Amino acid sequence: MCGIFAYLNYQVTRTRKEIYETLVKGLLRLEYRGYDSAGIAVDGPKKTSNDNTICIIKTKGKVKALDEELYKKDSLDLEEKLGTHFGIAHTRWATHGEPSPVNSHPHRSDKGNEFVVIHNGIITNYKELRAYLINKGYEFESETDTEVIPKLTKYVYDNRENDGITFSTLVERVILQLEGAFALVFKSWHFPGEAVSTRRGSPLLIGVRSEQELTTDNIPIQYNSVHYNEGVQEKNSHNRPDSSSPIDCVGDGRPVEYYFASDASAIIEHTNKVLYLEDNDIAVVKAGKLSILRVKHQVGEDPVRAIMTLQMELQQIMKGNFDAFMQKEIFEQPESVVNTMRGRICFDSNTVILGGLKDHLKEIKRCRRLIVIGCGTSFHAAVATRQVLEELTELSVMVELASDFLDRNTPVFRDDVCFFISQSGETADTLMALRYCKGQGALTVGVTNTVGSSICRETDCGVHVNAGPEIGVASTKAYTSQFVALIMFALMMSEDRLSRQQRRREIIEGLRVLPELIKKVLALDKKIKAIADELYEQKSLLVMGRGFHYATCLEGALKIKEITYMHSEGILAGELKHGPLALIDKDMPVIMIIMRDACYTKCQNALQQVTARSGRPIILCCQDDPEISQMAYHTIELPHTVDCLQGILSVIPLQLLSFHLAVLRGYDVDFPRNLAKSVTVE
Ligand code: F6R
Repeated sequence: MCGIFAYLNYQVTRTRKEIYETLVKGLLRLEYRGYDSAGIAVDGPKKTSNDNTICIIKTKGKVKALDEELYKKDSLDLEEKLGTHFGIAHTRWATHGEPSPVNSHPHRSDKGNEFVVIHNGIITNYKELRAYLINKGYEFESETDTEVIPKLTKYVYDNRENDGITFSTLVERVILQLEGAFALVFKSWHFPGEAVSTRRGSPLLIGVRSEQELTTDNIPIQYNSVHYNEGVQEKNSHNRPDSSSPIDCVGDGRPVEYYFASDASAIIEHTNKVLYLEDNDIAVVKAGKLSILRVKHQVGEDPVRAIMTLQMELQQIMKGNFDAFMQKEIFEQPESVVNTMRGRICFDSNTVILGGLKDHLKEIKRCRRLIVIGCGTSFHAAVATRQVLEELTELSVMVELASDFLDRNTPVFRDDVCFFISQSGETADTLMALRYCKGQGALTVGVTNTVGSSICRETDCGVHVNAGPEIGVASTKAYTSQFVALIMFALMMSEDRLSRQQRRREIIEGLRVLPELIKKVLALDKKIKAIADELYEQKSLLVMGRGFHYATCLEGALKIKEITYMHSEGILAGELKHGPLALIDKDMPVIMIIMRDACYTKCQNALQQVTARSGRPIILCCQDDPEISQMAYHTIELPHTVDCLQGILSVIPLQLLSFHLAVLRGYDVDFPRNLAKSVTVE
């Protein structure tokens, strides 16, 4: 995730300082979407009326660092008055290339800043485009996927057939070449005072502040976009203007201001009149008028856009319809797992390529053992995937808690490959374990959610899980993305093993439908809340399972203890009769995970032992399992998937349960007592 913000004032005079303030304020509102670097692009000073230039200012770190940079001694004239101006701004959460000024946005077409772009999303075919453009003589300065966009824009502009090309046509031609997800805002000194924005898969909305009465009337789509309306089937034609007469949808040439943003939190303090763009919309502001165009061949969707009046408070907008960031992040999982897989799995050819590992694959395949190291939730992601790692890599796999691994001075050898799993990439114990393993000569691999973090920088190679920033202290979406990343690694390692092909196909198919299955699990939220209503006054809660679900037990219990302050324990069902069974009676709440996998019968035995002691288990099981349901006090029925992915589905009800329990017990879900998001001390 990244945050996009842009501001266009048309015939509303603002000083450069006021424009900076508006852009920075917008970025601060979006900082929760990414905060490793930030940048803006504004018009440069004019010596003559035709002398258009663009000035870009970018810094590493939080928006505050950018704000300070803008007011440095050698900055542009802050009191300069700009009657019509378009400024763009961006706060980044790195995916390609570490946080640095050169990797931050806006990105530019060339040293003369002809075209500048801000982007949220991932361009999956950027390597091909980059190679093509390098071949055409374009020079790249960053490691980002985004940079291909302004370069491609210049390429299309430089190769236009006639001089009359519009900015929107240019953008339309560019995005037709892009694969992946994006929200984009373009600025160019060839088109001063003009703004073009578009989206596919990433959010973007436009706020409008104007003295004229803005109604909530539908905005017809302008289909006069040169030759791109060929073959378009007319639908709701009463909403369509004649293709030869453009309709100016908003703005009538009078003073107006437009705000472009990734979400409404950055807009609401300026105006509550907003228009949400749909995929493949291109929004153009020219001479103060906003029109919406549709990209070529995009038919069959609702062609009507409306200016809406937002009634929400700022806090509410940042968290969307959720009460806490943790809850929002739990519900983001259908998208965050897609972002982890995006551009890495080809579902047609059943291939997986993790770009950050491919050059080291041979060496990894030759290793003696894999050692997977982490703390807390990140350690649980290692536990969750250990079995499939062993199965598909045919290597011995050790999973280690970083602190314990260090305490033991664990022997590590040159032919070991050590994985370091960390959401923040800064956890002190994990980092120390990394340095220790490096000292022993092992190959080190990072699996983090934070590009440019210490673990990212210090490992030999790695995978970025791309879950987007996690604000809630309790880790949720990072866990499922780490889980998916490790599965993808196992798949990549087994690509050439004939005996594993059927299994690989099953898993890849499971990953393809995973987002839909996660949505189905999230739909159980009401039922889970009802269970929380019954449990929230309890002192203790046991979570029991085995095999692929042992990690879910550990992770579920961790979520419960850290945000509800209840005692909770994850118990390996195979250990039941070696001690924990003594805890079971009719009053002890027990959650059991019993899925249809290789451990099903053994789990049923554990269930018998619990019910024989008057235990009243709440059971997470597969849909349509009457045998299990009969013996349960409550059941939470989950969709079935391939065994090694089922743990992604079984952990979500426990994330939701811990959330509801914490709310019912009156605690601050996002900031549990005594805990910090990033543990940078031993
Ligand atoms: C629990 C949680 C922690 C972290 C642990 C490691 O919800 O968030 O247990 O998983 O502190 O942090 P990272 O993954 O940043 O290394």
